[in-house]
Amino acid sequence: MSETSIYGSRLPDLTRVMNLILDEIASVRAGLTEKNGSDPVEHLLARIKSEESMREKCRRKGFPETEHSALVLIHDAIGIRVVCSFVDDVYTIRGRLISMPGFTVVEEKDYIKKCKPNGYRSLHLILRSDDGFYAEIQLRTISMDVWAALEHHMRYKKHIGGNTALITAELKRCADELASTDLSMQTIRDMILEEGD
Ligand code: GTP
Ligand code: MG
Repeated sequence: MSETSIYGSRLPDLTRVMNLILDEIASVRAGLTEKNGSDPVEHLLARIKSEESMREKCRRKGFPETEHSALVLIHDAIGIRVVCSFVDDVYTIRGRLISMPGFTVVEEKDYIKKCKPNGYRSLHLILRSDDGFYAEIQLRTISMDVWAALEHHMRYKKHIGGNTALITAELKRCADELASTDLSMQTIRDMILEEGD
């Protein structure tokens, strides 16, 4: 194992930039909690990609295992996943993140509006800080998170054999049912909030 980090001396910068984004999320979260009486975020994960995963990703993409690859060519050295109770909260948090001072949106993939063929849903943002560090933020609901976890698990059991097509179709069906339930839950929440007005 190599002694030097693939991030060179930039780990403190990555941590600092990650914390700036986390502070912004905490601020939206506090505002929405105040407004709606409940925390919009069910849970949140934040990490700097491990040395081992970053090196593995460089190899997979055919990039040399260098600081440049890790910080410039690959955009998820900083990874944040925000799991919300309701779809609306995903978009409220998105709205704040895309207009965050000191950052530019370099990529947005809305797999909620248009899910992946397998049924995966989430909203992905890649932000770049003005000093050049990238972060990937995944925003999703609890249902989307449950589905993604299960699908991820199945992916590592590819030896399932002749049932693959059926399993794929069933997973897609579950994803669509969960999405439909998310919409219903959102409608119920809206009705509850209106009652409170
Ligand atoms: P990278 O080259 O890995 O950055 O891929 P990409 O830019 O083509 O990926 P994308 O933005 O679509 O997805 C990046 C991340 O989203 C993945 O590392 C996963 O965490 C998650 N993700 C994307 N698609 C799926 C999926 O089909 N299933 C699950 N479980 N997670 C997914
Ligand atoms: Mg990506």
